[in-house]
Amino acid sequence: MVIAIDGPAGAGKSTVARAVAQRLGFTYLDTGAMYRSVGLRHAQAGGNAGHVAATISIEFEGDRVILDGEDVTDAIRTPEASEAASHVAADPQVREALVAEQRRIVATGDWVAEGRDIGSVVAPDAAVKVFLTADPAERARRRAAQHGLDPQDVLKDQQARDARDNTANRATLEAPKDATPVDTTGLTLDEVVEQVVTLAIEAKEIQ
Ligand code: DC
Repeated sequence: MVIAIDGPAGAGKSTVARAVAQRLGFTYLDTGAMYRSVGLRHAQAGGNAGHVAATISIEFEGDRVILDGEDVTDAIRTPEASEAASHVAADPQVREALVAEQRRIVATGDWVAEGRDIGSVVAPDAAVKVFLTADPAERARRRAAQHGLDPQDVLKDQQARDARDNTANRATLEAPKDATPVDTTGLTLDEVVEQVVTLAIEAKEIQ
């Protein structure tokens, strides 16, 4: 069973997806970490980003992200890595390689997969599709608090990233028709997790 969690940067996807996975005993897949890994390697080594995506090895060991055998968990979270990820994510060859890998990963077992195109492209048959949103200012405030940055600076970067992320296959700013929209502004983590878990239980009963 796949639970797809999509939405823009800073809507709380990772925190919610991790917590839902823990509650249900599912495995968490952070697809953003894969784009970030490609962005990091491409920024370091150059070359063709599609080739980088098709040839690197990305592994998840618990909460750690291992890129070609090296722990890059922290390195992929810097503002520079976010920029690099957002650029390589716009490359169709990169997307093709990573989507294929993500489909292989979620083909067996129970997953909470989080990203921008999970419900639309990676797992269109997902049992549950959730689209998380939050006010832009709230999203910027959360990201700023997380990384010790200035909310105004984050808001500016966020607008640029939103515009780049919001392309045909990755309509990150509006919920697709078949997804359940959840506006997390003003909700606690527990309240959001509860909503997603309830959807998952309902879906399981129908199956
Ligand atoms: O969710 P994140 O901030 O870790 O994502 C990093 C970048 O990768 C961001 O610019 C959006 C992009 N991304 C994507 O295009 N598709 C996904 N499934 C996940 C992330």
